[in-house]
This record gives sequence, C-alpha cells and structure tokens, in this order.
Amino acid sequence: MALSSKRFPMRQVHVVRHPLVQHKLSLMRSAERSTQGFRRLLNEIGMLLAYEVTRDLPLEEVEIETPLSRMKTPILSGKKLVFAPILRAGMGFVDGMLDLVPSARIAHIGLYRDPKTLQAVEYYFKAPPDVAERLVVVLDPMLATANSAVAAVDRLKERGCKELRLVCLLAAPEGIERFHGAHPEVPIWTAAIDSHLDGHGYIVPGLGDAGDRMFGTR
Ligand code: URA
Repeated sequence: MALSSKRFPMRQVHVVRHPLVQHKLSLMRSAERSTQGFRRLLNEIGMLLAYEVTRDLPLEEVEIETPLSRMKTPILSGKKLVFAPILRAGMGFVDGMLDLVPSARIAHIGLYRDPKTLQAVEYYFKAPPDVAERLVVVLDPMLATANSAVAAVDRLKERGCKELRLVCLLAAPEGIERFHGAHPEVPIWTAAIDSHLDGHGYIVPGLGDAGDRMFGTR
C-alpha cells in the first residue's frame, strides 16, 4: 500500500501490511526473542519484502514448449537487480531475498553510526561493475536518523545508479522525512512506521539494536 498522507505528502512510502509480515515483526520485537529466532525471522521477512519490492518488475513474453504444446509465457525482462545491504544489519535480509531472486548481485556498503554524532561513517564499499545499469535495492532494516541510508544512496548515485529503492523493516517518521528530504524520488518499503526516535537515535517502540540482536553482540 502506498502511503500518501498529510504527513508524507506525495512521497512513496509502501507499508507492507501482509499478515505474515506483521506477525513475524511482532515476534521479532519481543525482547524475549532469541538471537537465532530473530535472525530467522529477519530472513523470512526479507523474502516477503523482496516479493513486495519486485511487484512491478516488467515482463516480456517468450515462446516455450510445454510437454503438450507451444505457448507464449511471461518472464522477467529489463533491468537486473542488485541488493545493497548496509552492513551489518542489512545482511539479515540478504539470504531471504536471494532465495527469491537468485540471480541478483550484491553491493556491500559498510557504514557505522558514530555514537556521538549519529553520523554515518563509511568503511567499506564494493559493488558489481555494472551497478549503474541495474535496479538497486538498498537494505537497511532500521530507518532511524536515516543518515546511513542517505549516505548509501549518495554513494550509489556517485557510481551512476539511477533506479534505486529502499527496503527497511521499521521506519521512524523522522527517518522518512530526512531520507525523502535528500532523495525524494527513491521509494521506501517498510513493515511498519513507529512512533519516534529517542535521544540516542533508537526507534521507539522499535526492537532495539537490530545488528546486536541478529549477531548476539549485545
Ligand atoms: N539502529 C537500530 O538497530 N535500532 C534502532 O532503533 C535504530 C537504529
């Protein structure tokens, strides 16, 4: 569902309200969820969000032979995909998404949040050589201050990327405002929009630090 309200006028924010996504997200939010359970659920939601973010990919007809007859049938055409996880937490989506789109390439974007300034600091960037010709889906489970997502898209645009989308698990209203302030043409897919950010840049009610919960580093 594309959200176009007074709060986010004319901007494309797709809140994925599929019951399986909402159910799995609720399980993930619980502080009781184990590292293993959290990781598995993030992976499963990654697959479901990949289904949503690829909903409008163009198709072309090809002719094939079934065991019974010839027929024309649709296959994907046009741009190939790159999934671009922002390290670390973005990696949690990758396996599930690759299960659905095995031919996609991966661009790793290493950014961490400086705990004092909350600014994104880049430490690694490696993308496929033809990234500029592909549809790039940036993966950032927690769209909080959006500093990392903005920096990642800045970097991909420097590399010539023109068609970009952002997939997150949770977004804060402040993060959406900031992200679309910098990149208004990049649509966002999220499982939920939470209430606000706290003083440390955490999403409330949120689910805590996604990277720590995924890797058991808390
Ligand atoms: N990053 C996280 O992992 N969690 C938040 O709530 C905000 C940023």
